[in-house]
Amino acid sequence: MPCTCVVGLQWGDEAKGKIVDVLTPSHQYVVRYNGGANAGHTVVHGGKTYKFSLLPTGILHPHMTSVIANGVVVNPLRFFEEVETLRAAGIAIGDNLVVSDHAHLIFPYHLEEERLSEQGGENAIGTTGRGIGPCYQDKVGRVHGIRVGEILHPQHLRQRLRTIVPRKNRLLRAFSADAQQFDADALCDDYLRHAAGMGRFIANTGAVLHQALAAGKNILFEAAQGSLLDVDHGTYPYVTSSNSSAAGVWSGSGVPARNLSRVIGVIKAYTTRVGRGPFPTELNDGPDGIGERIRKTGREYGTVTGRPRRCGWFDAVAVRSTARLSGTDELAVMLLDVLSELDEIKICVGYDLDGTRIEEFPADAFLLDRCQPVYETLPGWKANLNGAKAVTDLPAAARRYVDRLASLLGLPVTIISIGPDRAQTIMDTR
Ligand code: IMP
Repeated sequence: MPCTCVVGLQWGDEAKGKIVDVLTPSHQYVVRYNGGANAGHTVVHGGKTYKFSLLPTGILHPHMTSVIANGVVVNPLRFFEEVETLRAAGIAIGDNLVVSDHAHLIFPYHLEEERLSEQGGENAIGTTGRGIGPCYQDKVGRVHGIRVGEILHPQHLRQRLRTIVPRKNRLLRAFSADAQQFDADALCDDYLRHAAGMGRFIANTGAVLHQALAAGKNILFEAAQGSLLDVDHGTYPYVTSSNSSAAGVWSGSGVPARNLSRVIGVIKAYTTRVGRGPFPTELNDGPDGIGERIRKTGREYGTVTGRPRRCGWFDAVAVRSTARLSGTDELAVMLLDVLSELDEIKICVGYDLDGTRIEEFPADAFLLDRCQPVYETLPGWKANLNGAKAVTDLPAAARRYVDRLASLLGLPVTIISIGPDRAQTIMDTR
């Protein structure tokens, strides 16, 4: 069985892009199956840094077909922006990119809906402002959702927008008297212009992937965000609106999960989170504290929004639950080098919830908020990891830390990353 899934097991930004990039030579297809331009994947490839939001990072490899599958939500403006930026950097984009006709389209009224809803103070989720939530709401609501394939039918699109846009305008006004209003025909004209550029990429990607499987091709599934942001299994309501765990592969691409022969769970050696929501191991220890040191050393600022990421210790309780959820076979430990300066390093091995020790992750935000982490402390290694090519080149304390993560999670660590460059990756550590 030829499929691999690379999935983040925390709150996103685990450096999945680098692992996808490392694995692409042995695959012919790479698939984004969830989310949209809310993702931020940074890949250092051939000495250059590339940033991705919507396109699969596999597009850097000319031998691969990159697929934006049905589970993704697509803003055509972001799509073209990214295609043009990559082309300007010398990346060929043509028949090697396919966009699902079943993916849903983000319209400007989705961005306005999100802007107004995020003004809600206490009720704000701290989203990326890319229209992701409102677009998925329309998809699931079935009345107002418009799919990518529909922009290829001008009369049909105009008719739909003439019904939908006046309703959206009324809903937006109900939210706020000064809400932005939209014109159905102007929007339709805009999207038909987009269709002219996007048309060549649009296909039934489910069928494309099944043909690939039948031809014995290898498919790499690239999750966006992290499993703790999964709409069903994450820290609801402080989540994204898609299935960002490996659970999304089947519905988000049409490829049955039984085809996955390898699920690589990607974890940072510590934890970060952007946006609001509970985070038991967060380090709120001030401008000279360890949280700030991790942020600075790990350059922990959002790729999409530039927001400083919240930083904290590794949480084995949370990751045990997401590793199980995604059917994880092996772990990639990223950014180990970021901890190199610390005297000692903590790992959360349990929670105290209202005086009771628990080891199962309570995903409900209101319960998780009350959990106090129970820590185990390990010595730091206080040494530069640069130049390590094999696990045996790592300082003993660093090896011990990685081994402890593996034993707490009950999974082998097969990849260790000690820097952004592809060369700074220790592979096959078993
Ligand atoms: P949305 O996906 O823009 O609706 O945002 C919902 C939550 O997911 C917010 O807390 C965001 O900060 C978070 N989020 C969305 N995309 C990413 C990502 O790629 N990395 C990390 N957090 C993300």
